[in-house]
Amino acid sequence: MAPSPFRILYIDGPNLNVIGKREPRIYGNKTLEDIRRMVSDAVAPEGAGVTFFQSNCEGEIVTRLQEAREDADGLVINPGAYTHTSIAIRDALLYSGLPAIEVHLSNPHRREPFRHVSTVADVVVGRIAGLGGFGYVLALQAILHHLRGED
Ligand code: DQA
Repeated sequence: MAPSPFRILYIDGPNLNVIGKREPRIYGNKTLEDIRRMVSDAVAPEGAGVTFFQSNCEGEIVTRLQEAREDADGLVINPGAYTHTSIAIRDALLYSGLPAIEVHLSNPHRREPFRHVSTVADVVVGRIAGLGGFGYVLALQAILHHLRGED
């Protein structure tokens, strides 16, 4: 029997639904839909499945992470501004028990000091930042690499 494909869940936090229009000098011109299309194109030959979730609400992200324990094998997460503040998202990520890649469009370490802190940095497998939407495609490669035990 063929092994079941890995189920990868992408989670995007607040204000990521308006990228493309939001501060394009920082976040680029691609919309979240554009980036999701890039990821979907990249996942096809990998024999993996990908689903996407975005919310502007911390509690909805927490609930989705709790559910992910049952319906995903790996995560790619951009918590947006909650990266810098949310212990609840960190706790839910730990509850999920899933390996995760943290991704950011911009490089928070090149920005204001309050963006230099991440509540999830030490509980994810790895982090990708500053590469725009391409980072989301790299994150797919990274989580599959990890799930396949290639690292
Ligand atoms: C972000 C960086 C955060 O500091 C910011 O609040 C965001 C987006 C990024 O992808 O670069 O909303 O996570």
